[in-house]
Amino acid sequence: MTQDYRKLIEAAIEAMHKAYVPYSHFHVGAALETATGKIYQGCNIENAAYTPTNCAERTAFFRAVYDGEREFTRICVVGGMKAELTDYTAPCGVCRQVMMEFGRYQDFEIIIAKSTTEYRVYKLKEILPEGFGPKNLR
Ligand code: THU
Repeated sequence: MTQDYRKLIEAAIEAMHKAYVPYSHFHVGAALETATGKIYQGCNIENAAYTPTNCAERTAFFRAVYDGEREFTRICVVGGMKAELTDYTAPCGVCRQVMMEFGRYQDFEIIIAKSTTEYRVYKLKEILPEGFGPKNLR
């Protein structure tokens, strides 16, 4: 399983180096795994008007959904000022809500990492308790 996380963390770190962050200089990378084992990478993309900024996690989700993917098992997120991984970067509230839409609420995993050997694993249910999602509209 450790080996398993390594691949996803490496993919997130690679993605972080694609970040377009001329304003915050805070680089974020995400690696999203589908139920069939494919990995979609995403980076944050900032904007001069600030609010149109897209987080790394959502870039990964939107790329995957465009490709027809709908089932996801886990996502790894890494980030740091000037791409230096000095601390853990947890997903923002908006990204947690996007995970709620497409992830599996009970067991979708969020891995936040500082390196391939230093990481923390959470379930979506833990970091978004009492989440509102597609089931509420059925
Ligand atoms: N950011 C992400 O990409 N993901 C998160 O979950 C937290 C924040 C980005 C948005 C912005 O480009 C930069 O980090 C600083 O907020």
